[in-house]
Amino acid sequence: MSCKNVVIKLGGSLITDKSNPRTIKWDALKNAIDQIANYYSRFGPKIVIVHGGGSFGHYEVERIKKNKSFIDKISVSEIQESMLMLALAVLKLLVDSGIPALLHPAHTICNTNDAKSCNYTPIIRDLDNGFVPVTYGDAVFDSEGKIISGDDLSVEISNVINSDCLFFATDVEGVLDEKGKLIREINKNYKITIINKAEFDVTGGIIGKINKAFNSSSKNIRILSGEKLFNALIGENVGTKIIK
Ligand SMILES: Nc1ncnc2c1ncn2[C@@H]1O[C@H](COP(=O)(O)OP(=O)(O)O)[C@@H](O)[C@H]1O
Ligand SMILES: [Mg+2]
Repeated sequence: MSCKNVVIKLGGSLITDKSNPRTIKWDALKNAIDQIANYYSRFGPKIVIVHGGGSFGHYEVERIKKNKSFIDKISVSEIQESMLMLALAVLKLLVDSGIPALLHPAHTICNTNDAKSCNYTPIIRDLDNGFVPVTYGDAVFDSEGKIISGDDLSVEISNVINSDCLFFATDVEGVLDEKGKLIREINKNYKITIINKAEFDVTGGIIGKINKAFNSSSKNIRILSGEKLFNALIGENVGTKIIK
């Protein structure tokens, strides 16, 4: 079944080069957005886009944590500024591809780093008005700086809007086994092997993502390559399907 009401998370690994601070992978980002635009113009679904930080947010947080014991106020500003740069790039490509996207930084809709604390009214209103709302993992201030994860936002939004599809697009084919082979389906009992431990991800990485995904009420939940988004949207069995 093709998706009518979908949350798409564009992972930091897909849209940025995690090994270089503040570096966007323009080709991968454009490719992912072109597929979304193609599907959007043909089928007119409801779409919410969430993106991660990769070498923007995660890099800043890593740097700050080396020098400070907690995320202080100036650090919150630094992380928010960095994430907004990336968000504007994503927004620009969305708008250029003909998608009526509107941006809602998580720090304006969320009080804490708990995705349940966010006010999703602006996102619901956008969907009702025929827009494509966009939000992203971000720094929020709640006594001290905290990081709200794009994966958590995606799961929560999927539940709030009752989406039929929830897709986590990354730079890998899906969840891989120890030999690097794609695992087609994962249930709660599956033990995941971490392949490249060197890659930093301050909000839980692939294992965190899988565990969070089980909390979505969407029927079609997948972790997949950003290159296969159109296939997933039209209902093809690509990437790793999360089985609850
Ligand atoms: N077993 C595994 N299967 C898939 N990806 C893995 C695995 N182990 C580590 N990874 C790494 O996890 C990354 C995807 O998770 P994550 O970094 O959280 O994605 P995001 O881009 O959404 O932040 C991939 O880029 C990959 O390098
Ligand atoms: Mg991540």
